[in-house]
Amino acid sequence: MNEPTDLKAIQQNLEAHIQQLTYGQHPQELYEPISYLMGLGGKRIRPLLTLLAYNLYRSDYQHILTPACAVEVFHNFTLMHDDIMDQAPLRRGKPTVHKKWNANTAILSGDVMLVRAYDMLLHIGPDKLGHCIKYFNKTAGEVCEGQQLDMNFEVRESVSELEYLEMIRLKTAVLLGYALQLGAILAGASEADCQKLYDFGVNIGIGFQLKDDLLDVYADKDLFGKQVGGDIISNKKTYLLIKAKELATGETAGELASWIGNMDFDKEEKVSEVTRIYDSLGIQDLTERKMQAYFEKGFAQLNEIHPLRKEGMDMLHNLTKNLVNREK
Ligand code: IPE
Ligand code: IPE
Ligand code: MG
Ligand code: MG
Ligand code: MG
Repeated sequence: MNEPTDLKAIQQNLEAHIQQLTYGQHPQELYEPISYLMGLGGKRIRPLLTLLAYNLYRSDYQHILTPACAVEVFHNFTLMHDDIMDQAPLRRGKPTVHKKWNANTAILSGDVMLVRAYDMLLHIGPDKLGHCIKYFNKTAGEVCEGQQLDMNFEVRESVSELEYLEMIRLKTAVLLGYALQLGAILAGASEADCQKLYDFGVNIGIGFQLKDDLLDVYADKDLFGKQVGGDIISNKKTYLLIKAKELATGETAGELASWIGNMDFDKEEKVSEVTRIYDSLGIQDLTERKMQAYFEKGFAQLNEIHPLRKEGMDMLHNLTKNLVNREK
């Protein structure tokens, strides 16, 4: 059956599938934080990418909802641990798991989420399972490498633009790449198309993290759902800070260095002062242009694939185009 599909219908089906997922019963202290975080919503970009990549070749995406959700559960596991590492108080507009409960809970609930992600991947048939797990494992290892680099960089004096780009490729972009690759593999796409969709995902993933870094400074706090200025407070070596350090001269350079070196500061003051320095150097515009370049590079790669269902291209294009202008 070739029922007409649109993005909204796919999103609704996905959300319904996520809402009925179960992770375990007892002890409830282990499982409640999982339902809490998964239930807070989020954009669900990664499983949507899986479904939309599949939808380029086959119309029966309902059959792969569970493996698509594996990617979302894995993503939420990384967020639960990331929020401990980043000492983040808010996630999706609500207290983070380690704040609502405690760090031990967030560690262990996160661990079991990774296990449940594998359970969900086991829904893949035996002919493709090994392939999908192999690339999943590669990706998951890379995400950890990126997260470690991110933390190493917090306490390092200088980080180059290239080092930063490699760090965000690992911590964020490869998972978007994998999400697309998974959908393409499950649909039986050619190896060349699987690779191009992966590359597309990595490039828009780098753009996606550049946007995340921008929002961390410039988002509307009521829409964002995370603490605005968290990256400034923790001296994250974001593209914004790297460029500001590169461009600042004289008094501005001194001020910036002193905010970064100062261990005893008022958080609000640091955020507003560093933001003022970014503004004076035109950092927002510079970061937006860099982000745009990665999205454009990705879109060029997307145009090289050979989908069987051309209507699927518009959906994938629209979803990813909207990531550029997102407010959260
Ligand atoms: C946040 O991911 C972590 C990053 C890699 C930037 P999302 O922005 O996709 O978060 P949710 O899932 O929509 O909340
Ligand atoms: C997160 O990067 C990347 C992973 C979770 C692997 P961030 O630390 O910038 O993500 P947010 O801003 O907390 O969502
Ligand atoms: Mg982080
Ligand atoms: Mg974080
Ligand atoms: Mg961030």
